[in-house]
Amino acid sequence: MDYTQGFHTHSYNGETSFNDGHRHRYSGETGAAPDVPGHKHALDGRTAVADRHMHSYAFTSGPEMGSDGGHVHYYTGITGFNDGHRHTMSGYTSIY
Ligand SMILES: [Fe+2]
Ligand SMILES: [Fe+2]
Repeated sequence: MDYTQGFHTHSYNGETSFNDGHRHRYSGETGAAPDVPGHKHALDGRTAVADRHMHSYAFTSGPEMGSDGGHVHYYTGITGFNDGHRHTMSGYTSIY
């Protein structure tokens, strides 16, 4: 990792897939990553409560997409198991 580079984060938010009769909202800020080509960000946290439970999640985004005007990251992952099921999460981060 090149520590002479700056670091940045992105925000993200969305709703999980529909499973077991409900979805969960989620929002957060990614982990920091250096301003270099091919970087990825960690996403970890917990969904909002729905149907009286929540899910934890932890996965890594894809590499940056875009260039001069800023970049975003596509992400897709699976939540932790709770209340007998999991959900998937996918979308794009905010622009940096
Ligand atoms: Fe759930
Ligand atoms: Fe980024």
